[in-house]
Amino acid sequence: MKVGVSFLTRNESLEETIKKIDESSADYIHVDMMDGVFVDEANYSVADFKKMFKNISKPLDVHMMVCSPNKYVKEFTKLKNVEYLTLHYESHRRPIDVINMIRHTNMKVGIAINPETKVSHIVPLLNHIDQVLVMSVKPGKGGQKFMNEILYKIETLKDIREENNYHYIISVDGGINDETAKLCKDSGADMVVSGSYVVLSDNYDEKINSLR
Ligand code: DX5
Ligand code: ZN
Repeated sequence: MKVGVSFLTRNESLEETIKKIDESSADYIHVDMMDGVFVDEANYSVADFKKMFKNISKPLDVHMMVCSPNKYVKEFTKLKNVEYLTLHYESHRRPIDVINMIRHTNMKVGIAINPETKVSHIVPLLNHIDQVLVMSVKPGKGGQKFMNEILYKIETLKDIREENNYHYIISVDGGINDETAKLCKDSGADMVVSGSYVVLSDNYDEKINSLR
């Protein structure tokens, strides 16, 4: 199981937390971008990210919780290390247009779905993407409780991938700890994203290992 670590919830400074994730055994730094419109809070601009990640070596898994994600694609191409750029299905009238924009860059493309969004909505997109990010909490903040009722989506996505020979990875984001990561793994997830469980601990690698 791959592990991405999110720094949204933390006790220490941003720089310190990012450095610790970069030096840990995590596979990705999961980057939550919020615009105060798609979700209540707003945090960083792409220019902020550029400064923040200047000296890091891990690949970035960017999760855009923003309206009109198309507006940010070009800017993200200027950031080094972005492996996945993920937009929310619910954030654009024609997600396929944004997917195609991203596919014309060097970045891989992901689609995220809110807990209430059914897999059936994204079926026509699955042939065009590299990651599905299944939200297991309402997007917008860390430290929420994992919603067990999303687990069936992981199984459905796995079946669709097998039946059609698609290649996307299935990631799960929100409320991940050792117990909920196990549920995701048993359902067929390839990656989990964890924030508070790892970042609020005093031993990142121990927590990361418990998720694999
Ligand atoms: C939620 C974010 C998550 C969040 C995960 O809106 O997308 O990435 O930071 O944090 P935890 O693991 O604390 O739920
Ligand atoms: Zn996220």
